[in-house]
Amino acid sequence: MAKATVEAPSNIAFVKYWGVEDIDRAIPRAPSLSMTLRRCASRTTVAFTPDADTDDTVLMADAEGTLHPADDGFAEPVVQHLNRLRTWADRPGSFRVATQNSFPAAAGLGSSASGFSALTLATLKALDTWPDAATRSALARQSGSGSAARSVLGGYVAWPHGDNHAAEPVAPHTHWDLRDVIAVVETDPKPVSSREGHQRAPSSPFYEKRLSHLPERMQTARASIAARDFDRLGPLIETEGVELHLITMSSQPPIYYWKPATLKVLEVVRAMRSDGLAAYATMDAGANVHVICPPEDEPQVAARLDSMHAVHMVIRDGVGPGPTTDVDPLF
Ligand code: DP6
Repeated sequence: MAKATVEAPSNIAFVKYWGVEDIDRAIPRAPSLSMTLRRCASRTTVAFTPDADTDDTVLMADAEGTLHPADDGFAEPVVQHLNRLRTWADRPGSFRVATQNSFPAAAGLGSSASGFSALTLATLKALDTWPDAATRSALARQSGSGSAARSVLGGYVAWPHGDNHAAEPVAPHTHWDLRDVIAVVETDPKPVSSREGHQRAPSSPFYEKRLSHLPERMQTARASIAARDFDRLGPLIETEGVELHLITMSSQPPIYYWKPATLKVLEVVRAMRSDGLAAYATMDAGANVHVICPPEDEPQVAARLDSMHAVHMVIRDGVGPGPTTDVDPLF
């Protein structure tokens, strides 16, 4: 039996992936770019018994590290992805998998990017194979969680709309210390899955318009990261955060991920800027708000979000180095 453990972080998209060419292979219609986080992460241990023909076992670890059988909704896509990786590596055998999320239990934050990135990398290690970064990214993408393709890398990461459908590094985490102060306003699961949202995107009358200006926006994002120019990057981040939701709300049928509290946080972020703080908001497919800011403004941004009734919890995260194997196994 071979065993490996990987911890992989989540990421926050500055330029959003929304809309697919091929839903089952998670091939996007457009490029995206993100910052890999440090604190919000999934740790996954995978053990592989070659040639065994028993069913795979999928376990969840609670905060104390106690293992429980995962429910079907969690286990099914995991087993599907294990099948994909087993076939790719051409290695018959059986897996035992356990996962633990570092996100506070009730945060309601999506964990599929970190989870499928950690699962992909730990499985490859347990199979004793380590393909190049583009292949690792493409394999993570095939889990169905496209954003997992970006979480296999650290720092600032682009997922171009290209030939190999894999993410690539833009800059390492050491290049620029940016923070992500997450205002948790909603802890229930999102009403409509990203998978469904990607498929509805082209029904928005504004989707083609969005696609037409994304290449230029990607260029601006890359250039402002290279120049560490937050005055240029910040407004782009917030425009993208809002534009994703213009698409979702104008899709047929429409999807409303925002809650009234989302708009309250957006108003407070605008007030922070009037008061001289460099803070810009973005939302993925959910109601929670990620406020991106430089380190010197983080304490004030966090304090102001924390004082809001609409905010259940504030998580202080920031850019990180990406997946690591330097963690204890879960079994
Ligand atoms: C809105 O297909 O990766 O976060 O697996 O639910 O994370 P999940 O969905 P996925 O789409 C993510 C879309 C997004 C924007 C982004 O991360 O680029």
